[in-house]
Amino acid sequence: MPLRIDILTLFPEMFAPILGTSIPKRAAEKGLVSYHLTQIRDFAIDGHKSVDDKPFGGGHGMVMMCQTVYDAVRAVENQDQRPATRILLSPQGRIFDQPLAEDLARKDRLLLIAGHYEGFDERIIDGLQPMEVSIGDYVLSGGELAAMVMVDAIVRLLPGALGAEQGAIDETFADGLLEYPQYTKPREFEGMNVPEVLLSGDHGKIARWRLEQRRLRTQQRRPDLWQAYIEKNAAMLEAERLKAEKKEKRKRKPRGGEDFGTI
Ligand code: ADE
Repeated sequence: MPLRIDILTLFPEMFAPILGTSIPKRAAEKGLVSYHLTQIRDFAIDGHKSVDDKPFGGGHGMVMMCQTVYDAVRAVENQDQRPATRILLSPQGRIFDQPLAEDLARKDRLLLIAGHYEGFDERIIDGLQPMEVSIGDYVLSGGELAAMVMVDAIVRLLPGALGAEQGAIDETFADGLLEYPQYTKPREFEGMNVPEVLLSGDHGKIARWRLEQRRLRTQQRRPDLWQAYIEKNAAMLEAERLKAEKKEKRKRKPRGGEDFGTI
């Protein structure tokens, strides 16, 4: 069964260009995922098709009302027997990251609720108990772009979504390190050269250089990720250090048979 992704929104038309392009499009064509967009306003019950109202207690902006969102969620969930993981896009949510994308890529069904205006009536969160997710510490005008970011990051992780299976394994964040620098033709551009090691043809040496670059970059640019990496890989890093120390000692020590000092 393909992963089913439902998106509830007041602006379904925003999604077509993203879901209809590149990897998200190809993943759907390959039958790995299906997208279902629902207009929340279709569930409004008054003559004005209202989905929001002024906040109790005063304040600026408008608040998304319970009834339309509850009705939309229930109607959409009834379209398929598989229970959905409910996600509500909000700057108050947990920060979206690669481990969460990996986790969500293993689900059968996701239901994303993208709101607009100042926010949601709190009873939407209390009653429907969605996972609240934020894509970063900034405020967007609505959850739509955030939903698209999530869908893109999740769908490319589905087995078979990327051309080369390797693609998603090698890259940034897969093991907590940033990506190594990449180069392509020409070998020299405006006085800048491709590092010699990449032209050496020595695959072992290239792999070691790339790992070193990934570690250096992570250390310099993302101390938070680096700290997590050294904690997680303490045993491996210690083994590497001991091996390097041994190698260094061997280099310095005179070879067997050359030491005649005790005769
Ligand atoms: N809606 C508004 N801002 C958002 C954010 N940063 N992440 C998710 N949804 C949002």
